[in-house]
Parts: sequence; structure tokens; C-alpha cells
Amino acid sequence: MTNVTNSQSSQATDYVRIFDTTLRDGEQAPGNSMNMAEKLRLAHQLARLNVDVIEAGFPISSPGDFESVELIATEVRGPAICGLARTADADIDAAWNAIRKAERARIHTFIATSPIHMRDKLRMTPDEVVEAAARAVERARGYTEDVEFSAEDATRSEWDFLVRVYQAAINAGATTLNVPDTVGYTVPEEYGRLFAYLREHLVGAENVIFSAHCHNDLGLAVANSIAAIQNGARQVECTINGIGERAGNAALEEIAMALHLRYDHYGIRTNVDTRQIYPSSRMLSQITGNPVQPNKAIVGANAFAHESGIHQDGVLKNVQTYEIMDPADVGVPANRLVLGKHSGRHAFRRRLEELGYVLDTDALNKAFQRFKQLADQKKEIYDEDLEAIVADEIVRIPTRYQILSVNVSSGTEMLPSATVAMEIEGKRVIAGARGDGPVDAALNAIKELTGTTAIMREYVVAAISGGTDAQGEVTVRIEDDGHMVTGKGSDTDIVVASARAYVHALNRLAYRRDDVPTISRVTGP
Ligand code: KIV
Ligand code: ZN
Repeated sequence: MTNVTNSQSSQATDYVRIFDTTLRDGEQAPGNSMNMAEKLRLAHQLARLNVDVIEAGFPISSPGDFESVELIATEVRGPAICGLARTADADIDAAWNAIRKAERARIHTFIATSPIHMRDKLRMTPDEVVEAAARAVERARGYTEDVEFSAEDATRSEWDFLVRVYQAAINAGATTLNVPDTVGYTVPEEYGRLFAYLREHLVGAENVIFSAHCHNDLGLAVANSIAAIQNGARQVECTINGIGERAGNAALEEIAMALHLRYDHYGIRTNVDTRQIYPSSRMLSQITGNPVQPNKAIVGANAFAHESGIHQDGVLKNVQTYEIMDPADVGVPANRLVLGKHSGRHAFRRRLEELGYVLDTDALNKAFQRFKQLADQKKEIYDEDLEAIVADEIVRIPTRYQILSVNVSSGTEMLPSATVAMEIEGKRVIAGARGDGPVDAALNAIKELTGTTAIMREYVVAAISGGTDAQGEVTVRIEDDGHMVTGKGSDTDIVVASARAYVHALNRLAYRRDDVPTISRVTGP
């Protein structure tokens, strides 16, 4: 049995725990799937961010999920590691088996409590739901002292029934009571009142932590979470970049910075190291291949950009005229130009480490080689370039398919064509194809070589850093047999970047989410 320390025992009223569910609620949303090593890498970053709890996955849901939760529980130190479980015995047992090696292990069990979920999904009576909740908490308490109970769809449940279920959970030993707004239906005043009501009506409420878990269907997830905090919640469940089911979950960076910046108003603090916010956001975006929308609060590319003349004038005179926070406080590098042609291996490694990438010697050598090649093509190397190098060459070492060369001819007077050479399972193969443009031709050649039937769902090109010598970063999203994966590739040549992105996605598809990738070479601190 593990002991509850730190987050649970601290009853300080001015402190709210950050429960990060990027790897569970975030990861389960389409287009956000990560393989095991990517999850581990992000979990190490979450530890650097200093979240209180990492919900690492839903162990019973697949062998891959089990293994990644187990790996994170074994390797990541600092935050409590949590595994999700329904109320069935097998779920609780799997959650425990996956997290048992954690420094602090939490089981999070849940069952739906709204009339529609109980009747139409669970086909259980309210009495059966109460009993299942109590039994699950009791079983989980047999394993660990740190047990969280959630009443799924709480915000569409009857309040007096919620009191019954939560009371049963408290009596069975739950230490955290989570109140999920599963479908993003509630509004701040109502959600706040629900917390006040529960705290008033539950016997023993003062001995448990109340937790908010908000989805963003109405764009109110952060506002609702803060309303909950104002009414006594001392844990918030959230995700980096707000990723999650449908419109997402409450964004960690927005909650953390609202509380940090407006401490004068709320008087509530978190343990988050705010300077790790931006690196965490970048890392997640790199891993999933999903760009952050430019106007996203705190971490979007425009969050600290000043375009209008009046604003620029004000900022030049006094930055605080239009900036409420210092970009450095959230880890946005003040000077994004980091390295150049003459930078050495030491500076290169140090900068990668600052960005959260700790590589072993072999991986570092490969990355450094690629950096030197890029530095020959491009005068200035930015953080984004370094991230692309790591993502392309190190984290995503091609496994089944590897590009050897891409040559295209195109122009106003000719039909675009491409010749692509690849190594596929150890064999060198080559094909030529035509297309509507050079990118289309190159991808057609890759299709021919790999025989893929995947359908291209999205193709996005962006310039990493400025200038005509900028690296192009291509993100593709492809779908095959019900599996959607993203791939990323970068190069100063957009056709090559596209081919890399496509092959990266095909490799991910080949290995799907549960396979052990080759990136165990990227380790935590
Ligand atoms: O949204 C939700 O209800 C959940 C629960 C499993 C906590 O994610
Ligand atoms: Zn959720």
C-alpha cells in the first residue's frame, strides 16, 4: 500500500492541486494518440512542470495503455501517478498493477450518475450505481490510500443523488471527489454552487479534496474550473493546450496563469513552474503533430505578438502597456535565435536540454550531425528548428519505411513528376510517379512503394522561423482502417518535408499506438 503524502495531506486552503490528464483524457481524443516513448517523454516534462498528479492512462483499456502507465509509474518521480478505472474489479486491479511502482500511486475510479447515463448507458438502477461506487473505492483503498472517485456526468445528475453517491464514496475511503462536467454543459455560477452544495451536505467533506474536471463544449472549461476553485475545489483536472474529447478539457496553462497572475484577486497558488509551460506546450504539439492555434491564450504564437501600430508604439515605450505577463515567465524564449554554424556540441546539447530533450550519446551524435547539415543551409537556427531535428531524426527514427532520396521536376511548362528511393524493411526500392504538383508526385511515388491504402485527411505546411531559408514544417493526418495518425517532417525543401511527414505518418500507422518504438533512447532528466 502506498502512503499519501504531499498533495493529499496538504489541506492548505490557498493551494490548488494540478491534476494533469493530457495523457489520458487528452490522449484519447482523435489525432492526439501517442506511443509509449512519447508518453514517457511528456510525463517527464509534466514532472518538470511540477504538476501534482499525472493521470497516465486507463490501464485496462489496452495492453499498450497498461504498459505505458506502468513505465511512467516506474520512471517518473515527483508527481503522483494515477491510473483510471471503471468500478469493475478487473479495472481496479489493472490500475493498481500498472501504478504500483510509483512513488505515490493513485487509483481514479468512476461511474456515471446522471439519469440518462444510468438508464441508457449503464442500464443500472441508482441503488446499483451507489453500491458499485462504494465497492470500487473500497477495493482501491485495499491497494492505496490515495483514491479518487468521479461521478461521471455529474453536472447533469440530480444533486441529492450526487450527495448519496459521494457520501458512499467518502464512507468507503475516497480521498478526492471529482465532479466532472463530462459534456461541457454547466456554467460558472451553477458549477460553483454545486461545489458549495456538496461541501455543505457531505459528512466528512472537510477531510477530502474536491476536484473540478471541465470539458470545453461551451468554451467555459477554464471559467468553470475557476468558479469551482472559488467554491472550495482544491484540485483541477486539465490538459496541456486544452486537448481532449470534442472541444477539449480545461487548459492547464490558462488556469495556472490566471491563478498566478491574479493572486491578488484569488489568493490561490499552484505548484506549477510557470517557466515550463511553453516547453510543455511545444513538446505536446511536436509529439502529436497538432499545431497550437496562433491566438491560443498563453502559448499561441500570437499571444505576445503586437501587430497594430498603436500597440507597438506603446510596447516600445513600456512593455506593460499591452502585456500583462512577461513571456519569460511562461518559458517563451526572449531570444529565439539560439545557435549557428559555429556552435559546438556542448552548446547544442545544453539548448536541447533546456527544451526538455535529454539524449544519450548516440542520439545526440545523430542530432548534432543533422544540425550541422542544417546550419550549412541556413544561417540562423531557432528553437523550432532544433525541435524539428529531434522530432524527425531522433524521436521518430523511421522504422519500417525510410526515405533515401527524393527528386522532382516541375514547372510551368511540364507535368510534375518525382522519383523516390526508399528503404523498406532493409531493401532499397525506387519508383517514379506523376502528380498535380511536385508534392503530389512525390507522395504518389511513396504510395506506390509502400502500397498504402491510407487516405490523406489533412495536409498543412508552415514555415518554422522566418526568412526564405526557413525550414518548412509539414503536418499530415492520414487515416486507414479506423486509425488516424499524424506525421511531421521538416526540411528547407518543402517537397522533402512533405515526403518525410508522409513517411513518418506511415511508420506511425504501421506501429500504431501500442507498439514499443525505438525512442527509449530519449530519457528523462
Ligand atoms: O469527463 C469525464 O467525465 C471523465 C471522467 C472519467 C472523469 O473524463
Ligand atoms: Zn473528461
